Amino acid sequence: MSDYQQFIANVKRKTGIDLALYKEAQMKRRLTSLYEKKGFKNFDEFFRAMNHDQALYHEFLDRMTINVSEFFRNAKRWEVLEKKIIPKLLEKNKRLKVWSAACSTGEEPYTLAIILSKFMPLSQVSVLATDIDDNAMARAKLGIYMERSLQEVPEDVKKKFFVKEGSHYKIIDDIKRTVTFKKHNLLSDPFDTNFDLIVCRNVLIYFTEEAKHELYLKFNRALRSGGIFFVGSTEQIFNPTVYGFEVEDTFFYRKM
Ligand SMILES: C[S@@+](CC[C@H](N)C(=O)[O-])C[C@H]1O[C@@H](n2cnc3c(N)ncnc32)[C@H](O)[C@@H]1O
Repeated sequence: MSDYQQFIANVKRKTGIDLALYKEAQMKRRLTSLYEKKGFKNFDEFFRAMNHDQALYHEFLDRMTINVSEFFRNAKRWEVLEKKIIPKLLEKNKRLKVWSAACSTGEEPYTLAIILSKFMPLSQVSVLATDIDDNAMARAKLGIYMERSLQEVPEDVKKKFFVKEGSHYKIIDDIKRTVTFKKHNLLSDPFDTNFDLIVCRNVLIYFTEEAKHELYLKFNRALRSGGIFFVGSTEQIFNPTVYGFEVEDTFFYRKM
């Protein structure tokens, strides 16, 4: 077994995270650059150190989970969600069950809540937001962001839903209250069901083809019939019908 394969096995035993389901070249490169920076010679040394150094373990988690996010990331897609997808979903159900899977530091579920608030009172908006990374979700719950996360946010939305504090922006409590954060590993935890809308963006690209295949099927089962699966702008599904989806719009798939 190679040094990296042994590391994968050790990490799985310690954390339940299966690195074998992430694209190997990319993950190996990221982790190698971290252990080299820390002065270790190989994955074995790195794992041993991680075992009794909590801070190093957190750095590992931080390196493997890429937390980059942004409000209204790929704004045109969110416009499609607002103008076309949500109105159509609301024709069927007055209340929507919505999930932001791999929500990172919260920009995505808060964007969803902001958009939903245009259609219903905030008291009726509810978004489930999950991620494997506790640290990212702790930041999500704080709801404080640097200006660069808000690049795509329209001025009126910024005024209405954020409070400027020095050089930072804080999401208002009324929006914060609508989002429930929960730790969840997409590759090993069970999925809830009956969702009207699942947003899972910019995480599937890190997974192997086999892992993606499994996940498409699981997302399909997690949706109500007619429910929508919204993916990232580099994550087009090439053969959606295989997974029980039809194309609703670019990067939006409807459960058949
Ligand atoms: C690049 S961010 C995407 C954030 C947001 N969805 C967006 O598009 O802006 C990727 C997120 O996937 C999470 N992630 C990675 N592996 C995961 C897994 N197995 N289960 C759940 N979340 C995972 C990471 O922790 C990270 O927060």
